[in-house]
Amino acid sequence: MNGHQRARGCFAPILAIETSCDETAAAVLDEHERALANIISSQQALHERFGGVVPELASRAHIQNVEHVTAQALKEAGLSFCDLRAIAVTQGPGLAGALLVGLSYAKALGYALEIPLVGVSHLEGHIASAWIDRPSFPRDCVVLIASGGHTHLFHASADGLRLMGRTIDDAAGEAFDKGAQLLGLGYPGGPRIDKAAQCGRPDAVRFPRSRVRGPQLNFSFSGLKTALLYHLRDMSSSAIEAQRNDLAAGYQEAIVDVLERQAFAAVRQAKVSALAVVGGVSANSRLRARLTARATIEGIELALPSLAYCTDNAAMIAAAGLRALAEGRRASIESEAIPNMALPITPQNPHEYLPG
Ligand code: KG4
Ligand code: ZN
Repeated sequence: MNGHQRARGCFAPILAIETSCDETAAAVLDEHERALANIISSQQALHERFGGVVPELASRAHIQNVEHVTAQALKEAGLSFCDLRAIAVTQGPGLAGALLVGLSYAKALGYALEIPLVGVSHLEGHIASAWIDRPSFPRDCVVLIASGGHTHLFHASADGLRLMGRTIDDAAGEAFDKGAQLLGLGYPGGPRIDKAAQCGRPDAVRFPRSRVRGPQLNFSFSGLKTALLYHLRDMSSSAIEAQRNDLAAGYQEAIVDVLERQAFAAVRQAKVSALAVVGGVSANSRLRARLTARATIEGIELALPSLAYCTDNAAMIAAAGLRALAEGRRASIESEAIPNMALPITPQNPHEYLPG
C-alpha cells in the first residue's frame, strides 16, 4: 500500500450522494475503491412524458428519495451510519435545485456524524469511474468524457488534467437524445438508439462526420442533428417507420466514428498507451465494441467502466471523494451548490476550464 492509498484508507468506508440531475444515487466504497453498495433510483418514468428532465420535478423527487436510497446503500453494505468515516457529495455541475437536495442532506449527515465532508465535481466523478474495479489502470492516460452535458478530452497525468478538446456545440449524449426525439424513439435517447441500431445496418444511411479545424481535438455534433432533420423531412412517416432501425444505426455510427477518431488521435498526440472512455455514452454497445477492437489492434490499454458506473451513479462520486479527501479538500456547512462548477484547480491541476 503506498502513501496515497493509505491516506484514502483513512476515509473509508465512505458514503457518497449524487443528485445532480435525474438520478438519486447513494453508494458506499471501501478503502480499495470497491463498491460495497451502489444504489440508483431513476426518475426516468417521471420525466418520460415531458420528453426530457423537468428540473422542479427532479428536485422534488430527490427530496422524496434521498433518505431511502441512502438507507438502502448502508443496508446493502452491511453498515450503519456510525461506521462511516467520510461523506462525498456532488457539488456541481448540474441542476441548482437538484444539487441542493443532495448537498443539504450530505452536510446535515456530516455535521451530525462529525465526519469529514467533501464536495466533488460530477466530472471528477465520471473520470474516477475508470479506476473503480480497475485500480491498476495507468494514471497517465487520455480520458474521454462523453455524457449528456459534456464531450471533453483530457490528458490525465501526475500533473493533473490537460484539456485536449471539447465539443463546440452539442454533447455526444445530447446528439443521441435529440436524434432519438427526431426518430420518434422518445427519452432517454441514447439507450433507445442503441437498442434500435442493433436491428439496423450502420451503412444503410450515411450521415456526416464533423471535423473541427484547429490545434485542439474538438467535436461538433449540431450539424449531424440537422442532417437527420433534413433527411427525415423528405421521408413519409411510413418510410421512417420502416427504416427507423437503419436510420438509428447510421446516426449512431456517425457519433461513434467521431468519438473513436478523436479519442485515438488524442492518445497519439499525448504519447500515452492508455485510454479511458467514461460518462453515459460509454454505455453504448457499438462504441464499446468499436473501441475494444481498435484498442486491441493498436495495443492500447482501454478502460470502459462497468455499465453501472457509466451513467450517473454515486460510486464514482465516492471514488473521486476519497482522492479529494486524501489531497486535503473539505466542504463545510457553508458550502454551496455550484451549478456551473469547473473541475477543481489544485496545484496538480492548474488548467481550469469552463464546463458546458
Ligand atoms: O453521464 P450521464 O448519465 O449524465 C450526464 O452527466 O449527462 O449521461 C447521460 C447521457 C444521455 O444523453 C444518454 O442518452 C446517454 O448518456 N446514454 C447513452 C447510452 N446510455 C446513456 N448514449 C448512447 N448509448 C447508450 N447506451
Ligand atoms: Zn453524468
